[in-house]
Amino acid sequence: MNGPLLKVENLTKHYPLGSGIFKKNIPVIRAVEDVSFSVEAGETLCIVGESGCGKSTVARLLMRLVEPTGGRVLIDGTDIAGLKKDALRAWRRRMQMVFQDPYSSLNPRLTAGQIITEPVENFERLSRQQRNALAADLLQKVGMSPEMMHRLPSELSGGQRQRLGIARALALKPSLIIADEAVSALDVSVQAQILNLLLDLQQQMGIAFVFISHDLGVVEHIGHRVAVMYLGRIVELAPCEALFAKPVHPYTEALMAAAPVPDPTRVRLEAPVEGEVPSPINPPSGCAFHPRCPLAVERCRIEVPPLVPLADGRVVACHVRAPATDVVAKPTTAANSSLSRVV
Ligand SMILES: Nc1ncnc2c1ncn2[C@@H]1O[C@H](COP(=O)(O)OP(=O)(O)O)[C@@H](O)[C@H]1O
Ligand code: SF4
Ligand SMILES: [Mg+2]
Repeated sequence: MNGPLLKVENLTKHYPLGSGIFKKNIPVIRAVEDVSFSVEAGETLCIVGESGCGKSTVARLLMRLVEPTGGRVLIDGTDIAGLKKDALRAWRRRMQMVFQDPYSSLNPRLTAGQIITEPVENFERLSRQQRNALAADLLQKVGMSPEMMHRLPSELSGGQRQRLGIARALALKPSLIIADEAVSALDVSVQAQILNLLLDLQQQMGIAFVFISHDLGVVEHIGHRVAVMYLGRIVELAPCEALFAKPVHPYTEALMAAAPVPDPTRVRLEAPVEGEVPSPINPPSGCAFHPRCPLAVERCRIEVPPLVPLADGRVVACHVRAPATDVVAKPTTAANSSLSRVV
């Protein structure tokens, strides 16, 4: 199959605030606004940004847990909105999700073995022997002992529960796993173990990840490419190495300045971003970052900056750092076309 595994085109999600007859006048929360990206087989695309910028809404749109206000999600070139019964079931096998809080996403009354074999049993009947063999295999894949299959979630540590969540996601041999803040609730040392586990699984099984996190340190460890979101929009999408070597968008720069610097040889960037994230109900005009941006000029208050492809394979939406006058390609397709996998 040619083309990307996952392609997202101009995805938009507005949540109406309240209801009424005159729908046109109801204010909306602009959770996701015109988001486009693609993910190749076996690739990790990270989505990073402050709380409330729309990351989880993108995840829910990808999993079809919520319907988009606009835009499309394509798997292997097929629009998931048009899928009917059987095709939808087949597609659901290919995309799995791992959540932030493993405890609330695991049924407390089921044993670890039942939890991880349940997705398969939704598709086919398993004998007791097959079920035990599958549970043992999946537990071993995520670095747990097969004896753990008899335990309840409450009898496991936070790290073990997250491993269990990953084992459950692996059960159907997916092509893509969407991990939403999957390590955020864990201690730093356990975080590192889970990230290494995901990297190993990717190498062994060729799984692609959409890895969502507010933590740039985590993203740097695991990502091939990184999309930075601000108030529902992607403002910079870049190969991981290029982004961490030199952020171009002033918001990315500010995020990095705010994050701890694990590498002492790396120069700390300018001052962290000041002020609060504005409300997505009535976002600032033009570039939504302009009230907080030290580089803002008059144009920033008026025009939304398009995503402009730069020579090093990134796209950036900034009138000052990536002026659209230099563009050759169409901005909305740039996020899909100009980015190749970087390992
Ligand atoms: N079901 C919903 N109804 C109304 N607003 C929502 C809903 N889900 C998310 N939002 C709003 O959409 C915005 C983006 O939320 P979310 O995608 O959860 O951000 P993130 O995951 O980056 O923290 C926030 O302002 C949030 O309050
Ligand atoms: S477009 Fe203007 S306000 Fe937005 S990030 Fe660039 S300089 Fe700052
Ligand atoms: Mg979230």
